[in-house]
Amino acid sequence: MGIGRGFGKTILFGEHFVVYGLPAIASALGSYTSAEVKVVDGKDFEVIDDRPATPGYKVKKYDEAMQSIKNVIEYMNIDIGCQKLEITFSGDLFAASGVGASAAQATALARALNDNFTLMWDDEKINEAAYEGERAYHGTPSGIDNTASTYGGLIWFVKNLKGGKNVMEILQSGKKMPLVIGNTGITASTVEVVADVRKLKEADPLRFEKIFSVYHSLAIDAKVALLEGDYIGIGKLMNQNHKLLQDIKVSGEINDRLVDIALKHGALGAKMTGTGRGGLVIALAENEKVQNNIASAIEAEGYDTWKTMIG
Ligand code: MEV
Repeated sequence: MGIGRGFGKTILFGEHFVVYGLPAIASALGSYTSAEVKVVDGKDFEVIDDRPATPGYKVKKYDEAMQSIKNVIEYMNIDIGCQKLEITFSGDLFAASGVGASAAQATALARALNDNFTLMWDDEKINEAAYEGERAYHGTPSGIDNTASTYGGLIWFVKNLKGGKNVMEILQSGKKMPLVIGNTGITASTVEVVADVRKLKEADPLRFEKIFSVYHSLAIDAKVALLEGDYIGIGKLMNQNHKLLQDIKVSGEINDRLVDIALKHGALGAKMTGTGRGGLVIALAENEKVQNNIASAIEAEGYDTWKTMIG
C-alpha cells in the first residue's frame, strides 16, 4: 500500500494574473487531502472519494477528477493494463472551489504512487506529476496550486510562459496572520472562468495591459509587506487586488457580499481567492478576536467559514 498527502492552498495575491506570467503569492493551508493506493487483481483503477466537500462539488468535478487521476498515473508510467489500483481519497481538506482541492488530490495521488511503487521521485518530480493532473481542469494551469500543494509554506510564484522552469521562492513572513476563509458554496468551473478572462483580454488588450501593470507593482509591494509582517499594508493590497479581480469580471455577487461583510466587521483586507464566481473569499484579521467576529458575521448570513493562520 502507498500513502501520500497534498496540502490545500489559498491564493493571497494574483489568481488569474498568474496565468499570464505575473507573480502570485499563495499560502499552503494546514489541511490536506490524503491518498491511499492499493494494487489488486484486475486492470484500470477505482476511486473511493471520502473527502469532505461542498454539496455538489464532487459531482460537478467528477469527469475532470477522473481525467486528472489518469493523467497522473500515465505521467508516472504506472501500468494499469495488468493490475488495478484501488485509490482512496480522504483527509481534512474540505473540497471546495478556491482551496486548491484538485491540486491537493493530484499531489496526494502522486505521492501515494511514488510510495507504493518505490519510485524515489523528489518534490520537483512530484510537482510535475501533480501539474499533469491539474491540466485536466483547464488547459493552461499556471502551476501555482500544485506547487503550493507540494511544497507547503508561503510561496512567491511566477509561471514561465516559455515552458521552462517556473520561479518558486519560499517566503519567510515576518508574522503569522489570522485569516478567515468564507465559502460561497458555489462551485465554479476554472476552465470556463479562465477562458472568459482570455476572451475579455483579447477583446481589449490595452485595458488589460494597464490592469496587468497595476497588478504587477501591487504584487511586488505585497511581497515586501509579507516579508516585513506589515498586516495593514497587506490588507490594503488585498482590497486593491479584489478590485482588479472585479475589473476582469471574475468576482461574483456572493464573493463581493462576503468581502463587504468581512470589511464591515474589522477585516484589514478581504478578497476572493482562486477561480472566483463563487468558491472562497479570504479576510485578514489583526488578531483572533477580530477573526472570530468576521467568521461569526459571515456565518450569520448562512455561509461556512474556516479560521486559519498563514505566513
Ligand atoms: C485557480 O486556483 C487559480 C487560477 O489562477 C488558475 C491558475 O492559476 O491556473 C484561476
